[in-house]
Amino acid sequence: MDRFLIRGGRPLHGEIPIGGAKNSALKLLVAGLLTSERLVLSNVPRIDDIATMRVLLAQHGITVEDVGGPGGVPGAGQVLSVGGDIANTEAPYDIVSKMRASILVLGPLLARAREARVSLPGGCAIGTRPVDLHLKGLEALGAEIRLEAGYIDARAPAGLIGARIVLPFASVGATENLLMAATLASGRTEIVNAAREPEIDDLVACLNAMGARVTGAGTGILVIDGVERLHGARHAVVSDRIECGTYACAVGIAGGDVRLVGGQVRHLRAVVRTLEEAGIEVVEEEDAMRVRRSGRLRGVDVMTEPYPGFPTDMQAQFMALFSVAEGASMMTETIFENRFMHVPELNRMGARINVHGSSAIIRGVDSLSGAQVMATDLRASFSLILAGLAASGETMLSRVYHLDRGYEAVERKLSGCGAVIERVSG
Ligand code: EPZ
Repeated sequence: MDRFLIRGGRPLHGEIPIGGAKNSALKLLVAGLLTSERLVLSNVPRIDDIATMRVLLAQHGITVEDVGGPGGVPGAGQVLSVGGDIANTEAPYDIVSKMRASILVLGPLLARAREARVSLPGGCAIGTRPVDLHLKGLEALGAEIRLEAGYIDARAPAGLIGARIVLPFASVGATENLLMAATLASGRTEIVNAAREPEIDDLVACLNAMGARVTGAGTGILVIDGVERLHGARHAVVSDRIECGTYACAVGIAGGDVRLVGGQVRHLRAVVRTLEEAGIEVVEEEDAMRVRRSGRLRGVDVMTEPYPGFPTDMQAQFMALFSVAEGASMMTETIFENRFMHVPELNRMGARINVHGSSAIIRGVDSLSGAQVMATDLRASFSLILAGLAASGETMLSRVYHLDRGYEAVERKLSGCGAVIERVSG
């Protein structure tokens, strides 16, 4: 298993290309199930979760071909062509248990093939992560759903029928599953209290390019008028706001001045506000988000919320940042029930973080010290890299496979700006 060796204490200078959003590209690939024509996606990040999704779609009979795109240039993204006819409507446990986003094939399979047998995803490191809102919503669209032997057995022999669905929580995945299913349902569907993340706007734009009729993106109420069929389209994946925010934290904790090329400030308002309160300068440029930090970091109190609030996917990264800030910070996690797995690892590096239920108190220290630490989940693994960038001495991060699921070419992007970080294989 690969590890990262990081030597801290160097500020970052230069440019980092920001790639296409993992949490959009995965769903756009699934949207390929909704048509037998080819959907061509550009700016797709080269990350392991995309490879896993290609395996899942292939066993459904959907081929995903790499049709070029500037190879080897980080952030340039790959171009994938998705197409084919559904040959199998079962999503097996061994794939779904590896990647929860697999559950998103349920709605499209029901909409196109009128049946689906999808393994329940089970929990993961950050929480139990049920899918009850997905299932209740699909039943509202007329699906008959049974749970049996750890699988979801769903069928809609007469096809899905539009309905008004009110989500008790603005679930990203439930919104996406129901949105995709509703595009081919008969009649009108309203999803009330829909999630408003930019990745959902991106999915709506792609579905409409495929001939769907969806309005209300970003408003919290999605209205979908079902159509007979969808056709092929070409779509560029939206920039990854979480990757951008993560590297902004890297500049914040290491110091320096970096242009995050392709970063969109408009998708990161809550994050930018927090960066500025912490003493980090953010400048919106034509095609980049420029981040600078030279003075002392300051502690800030933060609560994670559904978009446009402060994103839970940035919580671990800011926890690392606050661990070397002046004063104390309070971080409250309201989205997931177990997303503080990075705390014990940060404390081993000298951070002073205490967890009380869904809140953590971070008392800033003057410096962290390098140590052997272990990644537990995607965003936690990056928080440990951030701590390593600021720590004195060497940090060895194990289980880097967590990181490779969702971040492309991390060691290349950081060392290109002066960080000392290398991948140690085996
Ligand atoms: C998506 O997960 C993202 N994943 C997550 O990013 C992100 O943290 C999350 O949205 C919130 O923004 C992808 O897009 C692949 P939810 P998702 O449905 O769809 C509860 C990362 O690091 N819930 O909004 O699973 C659930 O348990 C990942 O890139 C139900 O109770 O998030 C959780 O506590 C991590 N019942 C909360 O809602 C349901 O049916 C948020 O879940 C569905 C969700």
